Amino acid sequence: MDVNQYVKVALFLSLLVLFCPSFSSSEDVKLKVKGVTNIATTDENFICATLDWWPSDKCDYNQCPWGKAGILNLDLNNTILSNAIKAFNPLRIRLGGSLEDQIIYQFGKQKHCPTMKKKDNGLFGFSVGCLPKKRWDEINHFFNKTGIKFTFGLNALIGKKNSKEDQLNWKGDWNPNNAISLMKYTVSKGYNIDSYELGNELCSEGVSARLDSVQYAKDITKLRHIVNSLYPNATTRPKVLGPAGFYGKEWFDSFLQHVGPGVIDGVTHHIYNLGAGVDKDLISKVQDPYFLSKIAQTFKDVSTAVKEFTPWAGAWVGESGGAYNSGGKDVSHTFVKVFF
Ligand SMILES: *[C@@H]1O[C@H](CO)[C@@H](O)[C@H](O)[C@H]1NC(C)=O
Ligand SMILES: *[C@@H]1O[C@H](CO)[C@@H](O)[C@H](O)[C@H]1NC(C)=O
Ligand SMILES: *[C@@H]1O[C@H](CO)[C@@H](O)[C@H](O)[C@H]1NC(C)=O
Repeated sequence: MDVNQYVKVALFLSLLVLFCPSFSSSEDVKLKVKGVTNIATTDENFICATLDWWPSDKCDYNQCPWGKAGILNLDLNNTILSNAIKAFNPLRIRLGGSLEDQIIYQFGKQKHCPTMKKKDNGLFGFSVGCLPKKRWDEINHFFNKTGIKFTFGLNALIGKKNSKEDQLNWKGDWNPNNAISLMKYTVSKGYNIDSYELGNELCSEGVSARLDSVQYAKDITKLRHIVNSLYPNATTRPKVLGPAGFYGKEWFDSFLQHVGPGVIDGVTHHIYNLGAGVDKDLISKVQDPYFLSKIAQTFKDVSTAVKEFTPWAGAWVGESGGAYNSGGKDVSHTFVKVFF
């Protein structure tokens, strides 16, 4: 079944619920899907998961749900995990998230590889952390074995500074040297990268940090030049994605007007339409198709901006965790029946 059919079946099912509210028997039903018009199209690799950098002592609302799920702790020898990933065939995995803009890579001049620790005035309450070279090898072997499409989120804050007066705004040019060292090694090993993304949630109002739209356009243009020179063969060249954050019209329009043709392949935005994980009402929001559908307008806004300013690029949802701040207790890691 292709995605369009999927969308139509989903719509049809929701109509069924409307017209037969008491439908509860287990009789067979015949379902006719009239595929007359396309509601939406997407590519083959639309199923995506993000692996995050959170250490196990990341806690929200008196719970610490990450355990050993962060990429530096994850058991890559776990066969249930690798079989689950393989079953999607292919699953797109994005390695990124809140902490990616304070991760340095143990490549090139960067020999020292500090362990991330809790730090009161650090971004998201953590110090700078590091991706050890050995772990990069393990990750790539694991991803290769499971046949995923790999999107890697690069630290976009290296080289930038904020001031005491203006903590949120980070100024200055992106310093790509550490990223170049990682990428050169990656190319030399033949590790497959589907796409590089620059920064996490630094656009619009920002979350823990924010960048000016014109500055970010300049930084991602630099990334494009680097990718083109390290991957001379256009057929196998990784895509360049950004800005990986929440949509705001002014910021996105300005950013897209400042990237030249071909700089960006996917305009990624994040969706957390359920709100914060602490919400007591989460379970009913999760089951309410009308509530969930409201976010469609944001996707339409992003698509419209992309068509207008960067028609060579696609509009992507790069991360959507449902409920932010590590999900909701008794909801995010459970199953619930829902018709939509
Ligand atoms: C995973 O398995 C490999 C060999 O298959 C082994 O070298 C490595 O130590 C194992 N890692 C863990 C964390 O058990
Ligand atoms: C895995 O590695 C092999 C050898 O380098 C390569 O041919 C293959 O395309 C890789 N597969 C994936 C899914 O990256
Ligand atoms: C580019 O990569 C494709 C796919 O691997 C290959 O068929 C082609 O020969 C390569 N082109 C050059 C110029 O190396």
